[in-house]
Amino acid sequence: MRLKGKVAIVTGAGQGIGRMDALALAREGAKVVVLDVTDKIYDVEKEIAASGGEALALKCDVSYEKSVKTAVKKTLDRYRRIDILINNAGVLGAKKSCVEIEEEMWRKTISVNLGGLFFCCKAVLPAMIKQKKGKIINMASIVGWTAGGYNVVDYAASKGGVIGVTRALAVEVGQYGIAVNAIAPGTIETPMTVGKESDMEKMAKDAEAHAAEDKKRREVVDLKNQADQLVYSTEKTLKEHGEKVAAEVRGNIESALNGLKEAAKGDDGEAIKRAMENLSQVSQELGKILYEEAAKKQAAAGGAKPGADNAAPSQEPAEGEVRRKGGDDVVDAEFEAK
Ligand SMILES: NC(=O)c1ccc[n+]([C@@H]2O[C@H](COP(=O)([O-])OP(=O)(O)OC[C@H]3O[C@@H](n4cnc5c(N)ncnc54)[C@H](O)[C@@H]3O)[C@@H](O)[C@H]2O)c1
Repeated sequence: MRLKGKVAIVTGAGQGIGRMDALALAREGAKVVVLDVTDKIYDVEKEIAASGGEALALKCDVSYEKSVKTAVKKTLDRYRRIDILINNAGVLGAKKSCVEIEEEMWRKTISVNLGGLFFCCKAVLPAMIKQKKGKIINMASIVGWTAGGYNVVDYAASKGGVIGVTRALAVEVGQYGIAVNAIAPGTIETPMTVGKESDMEKMAKDAEAHAAEDKKRREVVDLKNQADQLVYSTEKTLKEHGEKVAAEVRGNIESALNGLKEAAKGDDGEAIKRAMENLSQVSQELGKILYEEAAKKQAAAGGAKPGADNAAPSQEPAEGEVRRKGGDDVVDAEFEAK
């Protein structure tokens, strides 16, 4: 009985989380004032009384300040103090896309979830300040905290507002011994969320699709970079050593280069791969010549054959090697004899 003698108000206590809060507070010995717009509060009141607790059910629409003031006055008339306020009353909102939310629905979501919370805080604070003690717990949502789903612009705005009010009020009233906190849960199965599983499934599927698209995009970017390097090194080699092959071979390399440049302008990864393969094919003859030249040169200098397992690492690129743009010194794979 950790809350014996305490007085707690729970808004939206007719069902769902609010009802469970009210029952839990009563179990711990608090006198619980259950507020809601529905008659279900009378059942909650009876449930608490039946289990030996004390409750007071009051019809109250938190989005109207007058209604809240009346409920708080009745609470103080009965119990003379308020120790705990749980701002739980809430609506899920329009569940429509931003362009479809009607003005009336927008106003309702904001006025219940955010306005209601503000009116309740405002109404209980004078008593809590006088007591120099109090606890206010606000029901936010993960949706007010992160990008939490589809068709929740109004709900997200209201719950983001709840987090903002919580922070600002905590700073404002901490000096009076009043703690203000928020809870931001993910989905909890209550009458508010039942039947909304399809939304969660849709989110999961969309996230998967986005990840796959993103992966594909990154692969294309990688291929474009590879194509860019291949074009650079091939053009350089062709300029320096092109005369070592027949004009027809040079022509084939040039036309394959143009094909690769053209493919790399687009986003078709397969086309880029095909164009790179084509360039490799038509460049093989030139690559073989350069490789053999390099091998001869190294043999004359007493070194091993380029590419052999026991080849000594060479500090300087041998003739025929290609220096990649921005990269390490390498014998370009496309010019290595197979
Ligand atoms: N269920 C979840 O997954 C979930 C997740 C995060 C946050 N929340 C928040 O928790 C709180 C409770 O949610 P729940 O799932 O129990 O919802 P719920 O719909 O089951 O219960 C909400 C209660 O608030 C009452 N209410 C609505 N408008 C009111 C008003 N103007 N004045 C007084 N009472 C009013 C309703 O009548 C209802 O009894 C809400 O603020 C909700 O946004 C819920």
